[in-house]
Amino acid sequence: MNKSPCVAVYPGTFDPVTHGHTDLVTRAARVFGHVIVAIAESPHKTPFFSLEKRIELAQSQLGDLENISIVGFSNLLVDFVKENHASVIVRGLRAVSDFEYEFQLASMNRNLCASVETMFLTPDEKYGFISSTLVREVARLNGDVSQFVGPEIELALKEQFNLVGR
Ligand code: COA
Repeated sequence: MNKSPCVAVYPGTFDPVTHGHTDLVTRAARVFGHVIVAIAESPHKTPFFSLEKRIELAQSQLGDLENISIVGFSNLLVDFVKENHASVIVRGLRAVSDFEYEFQLASMNRNLCASVETMFLTPDEKYGFISSTLVREVARLNGDVSQFVGPEIELALKEQFNLVGR
């Protein structure tokens, strides 16, 4: 596939990054010249992992992809997109239920900055049900999350829940 020369921003809270996110970033990296994985501070979600830790964990999962970078941000998404000379926001649609929220987000971003387009990709169906909240919940109860996240993330979850060795 010929890549678009565009720089794309893939924003999210990534608390933590899952195989579903990795699948989406991999797809975006095949389409766009450069993909910035933009990790939002998202204080309204009271994230489980600090922003620094979420960046570190994303780096451990995605660092091998050539044309991506991983950056934290705490300002308005469209401002971050402009600052980074990007023109596209990439978001994932896992199921029809994602659509309403994503449509609202895309419309708000378009109203804030008409020159930035939002494009949607769908992850592999096998990741359609994963969310960071569900992964954290399974990990908290000492369930096996190895099929949903990488080993570094599994360990970080265990450490955070004081489950190492259990
Ligand atoms: N695989 C697995 N899970 C996925 C996924 C995929 N491909 N795509 C989305 N998800 C999950 C996430 O894990 C997350 O789960 P959680 O709610 O349990 O944590 C959920 O879907 C959606 O979260 P996320 O994609 O991280 O988006 P968000 O709703 O937390 O954040 C931002 C959206 C960061 C893009 C938005 O808040 C933002 O732009 N913030 C910056 C400030 C701003 O500009 N605000 C105004 C926006 S109009």
